[in-house]
Amino acid sequence: MAVKKKVRLSRTGMYFLGGLFALLLIIFVPIVLTEMEKNEIASYGYSPKAVETIRKEGLKDYIKMHKDSPTLDAVFSSSDFKKENLAFYEKITYQDQEHFTSNINRLIEKGYSDKEIDRILATGNDEEVQAFIEKDYETNVLRYLQYDYAHLANYDRYKSYQAQNVSMDKDAVIRVNIGLDHPFYENAILISDFSIDVLANKYRKLSESYVPLDLVKIPEEYSLNGEQFMSREAEEAFVRMVEDAAKEDLTMKARSSYRTYQQQEDLYNQYVSSYGAKRADEIAARPGFSEHQTGLVIDIAESNTSVFANTDEYQWLQKHAHEYGFILRYPKGKEKITGYSYESWHYRYVGVEIATYMKQNDLTFDEYYMMFLDV
Ligand code: DAL
Ligand code: ZN
Repeated sequence: MAVKKKVRLSRTGMYFLGGLFALLLIIFVPIVLTEMEKNEIASYGYSPKAVETIRKEGLKDYIKMHKDSPTLDAVFSSSDFKKENLAFYEKITYQDQEHFTSNINRLIEKGYSDKEIDRILATGNDEEVQAFIEKDYETNVLRYLQYDYAHLANYDRYKSYQAQNVSMDKDAVIRVNIGLDHPFYENAILISDFSIDVLANKYRKLSESYVPLDLVKIPEEYSLNGEQFMSREAEEAFVRMVEDAAKEDLTMKARSSYRTYQQQEDLYNQYVSSYGAKRADEIAARPGFSEHQTGLVIDIAESNTSVFANTDEYQWLQKHAHEYGFILRYPKGKEKITGYSYESWHYRYVGVEIATYMKQNDLTFDEYYMMFLDV
């Protein structure tokens, strides 16, 4: 009797337990499976918000073929995500911009291709991209924006400069970036970076108080006019160059190297009174705008009397200056870019790597700077 009762009770208990177990399975299995799926999607490089969108839109299989995409992570995490634009999103490089997804959507609506959108976003910041979207559709934007150094904000300037001045798209980009579509000295930038990469030209000036910290005296045997100073690295390169040239019986001396703001002012004013302002601006920099104030420049002479361009020393420098990190700063044929007449004697120290690249590619420092250093 007691045994029978016990069996009956335990059978009820088993049904109960079985039911409870089934219920738990029904409740928890989907939760566990969902969590597993979320973890799987997250493991492909997606954040929780993106994972939600991917699951809601049924894009798990798609994402398996597009793992670790910062762009897709950003668009899936955005409330602006549009499934129909997926084929565009996947081809666009991620940019850390506030309206990244909505900007892409709007550019698609305007008719731009994935490649074009990619470059529009890469060459402008969020605000510049939004301003660009407000404008009429532009055909063939890649002709300018293909270049890494293009600035979206300058787009209209590239177009109008090219229409009036140059045939090559690339030249329009570089020259507008230099500032050549505006008059010299207009809106000049005050330089705040004083490395050997510094660019001083008619759009970029040094403050009146700027003096390089590492000026050293050039040995007097290599100087025409007594005391001359240069920045240490440039001075060492100059001495090496002079000593190597001497081995080939060539004589190079410093005619003028570092000049203070005040010395430049006096020089410029002298030229103005001798030749008038127009000519003075072709041959001398206004105070603050001279590379001589950087300490990285040397005007080289063979003697006090020679025309430097006619000397063997000049020929030697044409071949070898870049090996010491020097470049001819104001070459013939580049006057419109540099803003100065050809100067066979004025050499600027930029280091061997840059000097060699500039020589091989026939670039002025103004162009090189806009291509590689203007970040
Ligand atoms: N002669 C050059 C341009 C200068 O004055 O800096
Ligand atoms: Zn000079």
